[in-house]
Amino acid sequence: MLLGVLAPRRRTGVGLLWHDNPFVTRSSENRSVSSELVTARLRLRPWTNEDYEPLVELFAKPEFWWYPMRRGLTRPETALYLIRRLAEQNRGELVDWVAEDRATGRLIGHIGFGVPDAVPEILPCVEIGWRIGPDYWGRGLATEGARAALQRGFTRLGLTEVVAICEPENVASVRVAEKLGMRFDCQAKDCADGFPLLIYRLSESEWRSGQTERRD
Ligand SMILES: CC(C)(COP(=O)(O)OP(=O)(O)OC[C@H]1O[C@@H](n2cnc3c(N)ncnc32)[C@H](O)[C@@H]1OP(=O)(O)O)[C@@H](O)C(=O)NCCC(=O)NCCS
Repeated sequence: MLLGVLAPRRRTGVGLLWHDNPFVTRSSENRSVSSELVTARLRLRPWTNEDYEPLVELFAKPEFWWYPMRRGLTRPETALYLIRRLAEQNRGELVDWVAEDRATGRLIGHIGFGVPDAVPEILPCVEIGWRIGPDYWGRGLATEGARAALQRGFTRLGLTEVVAICEPENVASVRVAEKLGMRFDCQAKDCADGFPLLIYRLSESEWRSGQTERRD
């Protein structure tokens, strides 16, 4: 859900550096977090300054930020969001990837890792989150991108466990977590709004057994 990185009121200041997180092994190739990933239909790539105008258009859609904002983002909020992503990327912290439609090069969302500092009761942990523009929903793209991110996270970034955080009524997001093989762990609350949240988890070993089952 990547809640904690959205707006100032949601920040708790708990954000962890990549190498300080106990769910990232020390031998991991930290720098590859910002290198790109390509799937059949998506290019997952680092954030750039040029993403600003396409993001303003995408983030203004209420559906895109409905969970947890219940509205679209304003231009200044989008600017703040992008500035934060660029800064985190430059500092080598956990940051997600921009998702581009490979066929058109259009920026359609973002997928990847972060630290959910809006949910301090489950920290420390690494979150996997996904957001795709409404024009692209229902085509399996969030699942496709998140699968590639998990593969990168568990094989090259040194992750040992990830969580996904969904509001219960966000059934599409819950379904993505389930399709990725994540298991329901517990309920929690957004510390800013008190919204109830469902926490899903996946360890590296669970992910590896899922990979074996998919091959069999
Ligand atoms: C959640 C989100 C990323 C899903 O993206 P997507 O590319 O459509 O996801 P996928 O197509 O990979 O999978 C969606 C699954 O949810 C199911 N689904 C979608 N809406 C549903 C609904 N109202 N009821 C039941 N299932 C639903 C789809 O059928 C699909 O499952 P299936 O493959 O078993 O049929 C997208 O809706 C989104 O970006 N929403 C706004 C941002 C957001 O809420 N992000 C998550 C914050 S926790």
